[in-house]
This record gives sequence, C-alpha cells and structure tokens, in this order.
Amino acid sequence: MLSTDLEKELFSVIPGLENAGEVTEVNAADLNQKIFYEQWVNKNNPCVIRGACKHWPASEKWGKTDFWKSAIKNFDLYVSNHRNFNDSERQNSGREKKSFHEAIDEIFSQGTSILSIPAEEIHPNSYYQPLNADIAGFTFLPNPPKPRNYSEKRFFLYRGASTAWHYHKADETLMTQVVGSKKVMLLSSDLPDPERTIDFLENERQLEGKKLDSYLKFNSYIVEVREGDALYIPPQWFHAVVPVDMNAGLTLAYCWGSPWHKLGDLGNYFTRKLYRELIVPVNRYTLLIPFLGSYALTMFLLYRMGLNRGY
Ligand SMILES: [Fe+2]
Repeated sequence: MLSTDLEKELFSVIPGLENAGEVTEVNAADLNQKIFYEQWVNKNNPCVIRGACKHWPASEKWGKTDFWKSAIKNFDLYVSNHRNFNDSERQNSGREKKSFHEAIDEIFSQGTSILSIPAEEIHPNSYYQPLNADIAGFTFLPNPPKPRNYSEKRFFLYRGASTAWHYHKADETLMTQVVGSKKVMLLSSDLPDPERTIDFLENERQLEGKKLDSYLKFNSYIVEVREGDALYIPPQWFHAVVPVDMNAGLTLAYCWGSPWHKLGDLGNYFTRKLYRELIVPVNRYTLLIPFLGSYALTMFLLYRMGLNRGY
C-alpha cells in the first residue's frame, strides 16, 4: 500500500493505517452546485472530482518550461530542498535563493533531488498574475464567495516534495492537480483525543521519536488525485500530501468561503477551538466574534430545519 519513502514517513504515523478507506469519486461532468453542496460541502465530507480542471488552458500549458519562462518574470525567490516541514526553523533550514527561471529548469529536469516552490499566491499584484488567464473555474462552483482566511488561489510547484500533516481552520478547498499526480491521506474531523492528536500532528512529534497511541481509532482515507482532478478538502480534516513519482507537479489550491451554517456547528471540537483562538488573545475582532458566532449559530439552526441550503 505504501509505495514511496515519503508516503511511509508521513502516512504511517497514523495508527490503523491499514484500515484507511477510499474517498468517494465523482465525475466533474456529473456534478452541479446543488449536488456538490448537498452531498459534500454542507456535510463537510471530502470527495475527489475526476476531470475537474481538464478544461483549463492551464492543463495544456503549465507542464511546459517554455510557458513559465515566457509568462512569468525572472525574479529571485526561495526554493525548498526538503520534503517541507510544519516547523518554521526546520522549513527555513533547507531553502536556497534562486532565480525563478533557474528553479523552473531544475524542477522540470529529470533529476532525483527534492525541490519545491511552496504556496505562492496568485493575486493581481503578484508576479504570477498572468496565471489567472489559464484558470477557468469549476462548472459545479459557479459563483463562490471569497475565502475568509486563505487567499483564493495559491500554487505549489514541486518535484518529489510533500506537504506535512495540517488542517484548514476555515474555508473550503479544491486541491487541484494541474500537473502530475499526488496521494493524499485525510483524517475525519472527529479525531480521537483531539487536543493531543492535534499537537502531535501539527508539531510533527514523530521527528522527536514519539508515536500516537496505537489504540486511538482514526477514520482515515487515502486517495490518488490524478492530473486533471480536484480533491475537495473540507475544513477541519487533517491531511498529508505526497507525490507519487519524481516528476514535476503543480497543485493549485482554490479556496472559497464556507457556508455560515458550518461555522455555527458548536458541537464540533474544531469549531469551538476556532472561536477560542479568534477571541483570545484579545484583539480588535474579539468583541465582534460573539456576534458572528450568533449569526453562524442561527444559520446552523436554519440549515438543520431545512430553511438554509448553504449556497
Ligand atoms: Fe492543505
């Protein structure tokens, strides 16, 4: 089941890995906004959408070095030469400054070393603005609201690099494989022993020789997201992402705002944790948060009564 070293290193920290389930597959052509929200987004369950970005001009263009060199200015940036870590000290220890075009040449060459340009935002004032012309959106998500926490579009260009265990505190995400394939392991948000599990995963305690208790029961899922697909990653679901080979790959994380009712589900550990973190330490939004929470709770109750569709 575990094929690459990175897969072994990251996925095997979860007890009961051998019981991991499969993520439901949906064809983009069979999906519309109503089905997408009612079956997946509103229920906060992941699905892999085959062929979600096949119609994008990016699918044709972004796998070629010539495209990157002609479309994007040759500025200097930091590239990461390890698998990518959550801890900033570890992360920064293995990075080097290169020109963008030099990094592109290296990532797309047939080498065996790990290299990545992690989490670059595509916004109107960035060097990457020309990429917007090649992103054609999703047929099943016609008019999504702006994200509240993340930028709308950020990309990850890599060869052999992974993303360590993390979760998105807010916002919905379509992890879109424009170039290459990746394997993703996800953990349902009903985590066992959530406080200690979150601490373990976020701080990568396995690097200190620690282990999660073997009796903990996780609802875990593994899926291969192939070129042209998008994986819907709900907020609150931990996930780790590994490449399936040493070829160049590009992932676009497309984010949009969660329906309000999901922010009103106060029975959920992660939702309560989010509000605690928004209120303490005291900041300029502290007084506003209880009002937003009350609004979200109202929307949650209306959703439960069938009076709020979420989109
Ligand atoms: Fe993520």
